[in-house]
Amino acid sequence: MKNIKAVICGASGYTGSELLRILAPIPAVDVTALTSEQSAGKEVTALFPHLHTYKGVRFEPLIKEALLDKGDVFFLALPHSASQEAVEFFHSRGKKVIDLSADYRLRNPLVYELWYKINHRFPDALKQAVYGLPELYRDKIRNASLIANPGCYPTTAILALYPALKQKIITTEHIVIDSKSGVSGAGRKSDVAYSFCEIAGGFKAYGVAAHRHTPEIDQELSAIAGSPISVTFTPHLLPIARGMLSTVYAPLKDPGMSLDEVHSIYRDAYQDEPFADVLPLGKYPDIRNVRGTNLCQIGMAAAENGTLIVISAIDNLVKGAAGQAVQNMNIMFGLDETTGLGQLPVVP
Ligand SMILES: NC(=O)c1ccc[n+]([C@@H]2O[C@H](COP(=O)([O-])OP(=O)(O)OC[C@H]3O[C@@H](n4cnc5c(N)ncnc54)[C@H](OP(=O)(O)O)[C@@H]3O)[C@@H](O)[C@H]2O)c1
Repeated sequence: MKNIKAVICGASGYTGSELLRILAPIPAVDVTALTSEQSAGKEVTALFPHLHTYKGVRFEPLIKEALLDKGDVFFLALPHSASQEAVEFFHSRGKKVIDLSADYRLRNPLVYELWYKINHRFPDALKQAVYGLPELYRDKIRNASLIANPGCYPTTAILALYPALKQKIITTEHIVIDSKSGVSGAGRKSDVAYSFCEIAGGFKAYGVAAHRHTPEIDQELSAIAGSPISVTFTPHLLPIARGMLSTVYAPLKDPGMSLDEVHSIYRDAYQDEPFADVLPLGKYPDIRNVRGTNLCQIGMAAAENGTLIVISAIDNLVKGAAGQAVQNMNIMFGLDETTGLGQLPVVP
């Protein structure tokens, strides 16, 4: 079988460079082109010395017509809105597309317009997009040609709540999601608000009651529950480079339900999942154990008042972005789902 040709648009960013790192050792994949506007013409190693296997490979500008024949799969690691048109261009010309931005995640274009303050210009392509969370949508992903790769916060929140909602052991009201992210979640672009002196030693909430991942979380949890869910979601900025942890609170329908019973529901739901790792009772996730990996680790407890507490941790750049995108590529192309992801080392 011929190798899969992969094009990465936005390869000079944090998620794009993680795609380069993860794809490099996969024998079945050749990275054939990578784009950057600011760094077009520069070598990859000039920006990312650790990606030494790309020595001599240069960034090129995103000229869609010039890239079209270079790829079987197009990873788009661009800011939202910049992705809309490029996704449609490659997809409508028969290519498989995995979009890491938010442009194709919200099924209702009006909800997208409300939260992102721009029109969705390609509603027909939007209808064909499959939400790329393998633990929920593996069968659809297998036959999809356009994947909307999930956001990082939604990945933690949905995986933390999926088994409990599916088994209907929690109420669909009063779900609270308290999340913390490392600074790479904001991307590589320079911005004073994310510079070292503004972040180091601090810890704060942002996007309070207004973060754009809220409708994405609501959309997916509602689909699992089969009825509308509107969560309370507050993200916080951790003074670390990468890693994300969410603590989720949801009332148990039966406040007397034993934690052992809840735990076995989670264990059953994820027993065949290579990257959803339910920890033993009494153990809780730590960002340091998932950083660099494609794992989502999950721990849980029940409060005296009948509230289920679920804690989930991922690397925002891996299971929250590039790793999940490669997981989706593996499923779409019939590769082993863990190809390139199973042995990813924990990074310091
Ligand atoms: N960071 C995360 O943890 C995370 C997690 C999940 C999803 N995402 C999503 O993934 C996407 C990429 O995020 P990121 O963190 O990797 O961002 P980033 O570090 O800021 O990188 C953005 C990339 O897009 C390129 N770019 C920017 N504007 C462009 C334009 N108008 N046309 C063509 N290329 C353009 C940049 O190239 P230049 O070299 O020209 O600047 C760069 O390569 C975003 O939509 C983000 O929301 C991010």
